[in-house]
Amino acid sequence: MAAGATARPVAAATGERGATVWLTGLPSAGKTTLARAAAERLHATGRRAEVLDGDEIRRFLSQGLGFSRADRHTNVQRIGFVAELLARNGVTALVPVIAPYADSRDAVRGRHEANGTQYLEVHVATPVEVCSARDVKGLYAKQAAGELTGLTGVDDPYEVPKRPELRIRTQGRSVADTAAELHSFLSERGLA
Ligand SMILES: Nc1ncnc2c1ncn2[C@@H]1O[C@H](COP(=O)(O)OP(=O)(O)OP(=O)(O)O)[C@@H](O)[C@H]1O
Ligand SMILES: [Mg+2]
Repeated sequence: MAAGATARPVAAATGERGATVWLTGLPSAGKTTLARAAAERLHATGRRAEVLDGDEIRRFLSQGLGFSRADRHTNVQRIGFVAELLARNGVTALVPVIAPYADSRDAVRGRHEANGTQYLEVHVATPVEVCSARDVKGLYAKQAAGELTGLTGVDDPYEVPKRPELRIRTQGRSVADTAAELHSFLSERGLA
């Protein structure tokens, strides 16, 4: 860089657009599966992508937070803050996090808009009966056995997104099929 030149954000230098792609939905809906599949496909074509997974974030960024409404909100705002930083620097931040409350999701969207950063909400729309049959982490079984309370979609609220940029149905479909749908969506938005 020439003396006196101003450092520019990487995104501007490479011309690569970033975005936050928030995958919201019930436990076992398929959020992590789809986010990882999308990241893999983006990496394969040399795109920069990161997955900010709820479980991992709770171990580090949000350690100590619980599952009350207030703590869930704080968790979502923290993740949204980091996602926006990545996105504004040309990274596609894939966020497979339940984010059950519409006002929490809208606050994240609002901060992206205020910064001119693209924000895309993807509702992984899997019915609770299907999620509960999948029960990847055994949470539905634990709730049914009375070993756990406050499970989103069962005995804790999940506010279904009214106007997501994309709603993916996974019931009766293969992972490859739904992952391809997400990839096409990202292509249409100039992200893949
Ligand atoms: N079409 C599909 N798309 C995505 N996942 C699917 C599909 N069909 C079946 N599955 C399966 O559903 C399960 C979804 O689990 P996953 O961990 O992705 O859920 P999650 O939404 O991240 O849940 P949690 O909120 O608990 O982290 C996986 O075992 C996946 O293989
Ligand atoms: Mg997950």
